[in-house]
Amino acid sequence: MKVCVVGTGYVGLTTGVSLAFLGHEVTCVDLDQAKVDMLRAGRCPIYEPGMEELLAEAAPNLTFTTSYDDGVPGADVVFVAVQTPSAEDGSPDLRYLRSAAESVAQALNHDFTVVVNKSTVPIGSGNWVDAILRDSFTQRSETPGEFAVASNPEFLREGNAIADTLYPDRIVIGSDNPRSLEVLNRLYRPIINQTFTPPTFLPRPEDVSAVPLVSTDLASAELIKYAANAFLALKISYANEIGQLAAKVGADITEVARGMGLDQRIGSRFLQSGVGWGGSCFGKDTKALIATAAEYNLEMPIVKAARDVNQRQRAIAVERLQDELRILKGRKIGLLGLAFKPNTDDLRDAPALDIANSLLARGARVKLHDPVATERFRVEQPELAPYLSETIDDLFADCDAVVLVTEWAQYLELDWSKFVGLMRTPVVLDGRHVLDAERMRRMGYRYLAVAR
Ligand code: UDX
Repeated sequence: MKVCVVGTGYVGLTTGVSLAFLGHEVTCVDLDQAKVDMLRAGRCPIYEPGMEELLAEAAPNLTFTTSYDDGVPGADVVFVAVQTPSAEDGSPDLRYLRSAAESVAQALNHDFTVVVNKSTVPIGSGNWVDAILRDSFTQRSETPGEFAVASNPEFLREGNAIADTLYPDRIVIGSDNPRSLEVLNRLYRPIINQTFTPPTFLPRPEDVSAVPLVSTDLASAELIKYAANAFLALKISYANEIGQLAAKVGADITEVARGMGLDQRIGSRFLQSGVGWGGSCFGKDTKALIATAAEYNLEMPIVKAARDVNQRQRAIAVERLQDELRILKGRKIGLLGLAFKPNTDDLRDAPALDIANSLLARGARVKLHDPVATERFRVEQPELAPYLSETIDDLFADCDAVVLVTEWAQYLELDWSKFVGLMRTPVVLDGRHVLDAERMRRMGYRYLAVAR
């Protein structure tokens, strides 16, 4: 089928490259010439494992352009995956979405086209995009446009984007127009039936043979995305809330979570306690859900509590250090891991930023390290950039405490015994509850945890 993807950010690029890999003819439109040039040269503007390999495998079916006219006319499906940054008041800024929808409408011809909202947008935005398309289209054409709007939320995790796209737990499509549901069903059939040959670097997991499809109305599809993300966020916050009680009563939260998670009604994933969640989705989506509910005079006490608990976890990390070191002023504290989670260079809403700023505000000195995100860090966090350490040795040298903030594999595999001697006081705070406390103690560390 013929597909156009507007926006080559995380979601758009993964969608475009994956669909091209599956054999669809895909044109990716982005107004940023530099990005288009880079992608044409086979280089990926974001850090995502496997993306460049998939880009190479999909190349014969893939075109990058800055012009809507190269991709929209004649497309069966147009995905709109532009950024929706938070405005000052926290609500999503829909300017890019509006202008993308207007440009799509200008380029549409009279073949039936499904316009899919792939950006995470407030519930109800499908209708809004539909109205924009209709207005723009009628400005230039007497006959009504042959298109329908659909929602197809993505559930991909950064660092896992390709696997989550090719082997998802489910595919959700929503539209109030039955024809567009048929088109999307056809588009995703290779994934639904798992009939494609897997990429060489990413074999099909053994337990994946078919993918369930949820084909529903527009509003339900839009709400599924928010409801699912908020649920995952509150699952983590619940583990963190229980973690605080566990620490008080002398229980081990890791054991508690393991015991809970083996109940199949609960499930073991997203119960890992620590400094809490960050990233571009959970914070933004929980906030947007609360804002949408408020428009209907509804409170979301559970979602609000999940946010509060998450914020508190970052503060608790600093309190633990204060309890141990007594005085933070003048202390040198190293943070291992800046990205909001491993295998990404994404720093949005990363716990490390709050923790670093809070330590600095208390007069401590900080040193920062990340195996991948430092380049981006220099650009996005110029005020904190002078605190970056080039090497792990440098980070540990003279430190009064080191905090493991992001559980990068490199940090877990470190020979920690080599560094203990470099520190002024060998305090380690395990922000993710992933280090072996006994082992650390045997090496001479004073082991602290957020909730252990
Ligand atoms: C998330 C959703 O998983 C995805 O479905 C959605 O489409 C976008 O948002 P992402 O933000 O990439 O994906 O990361 P994810 O792996 O979900 O982790 C989010 C945060 O939660 C990270 O900061 C991670 O460290 C934290 N986390 C995750 C925990 O603190 N404990 C856990 O048990 C799991």
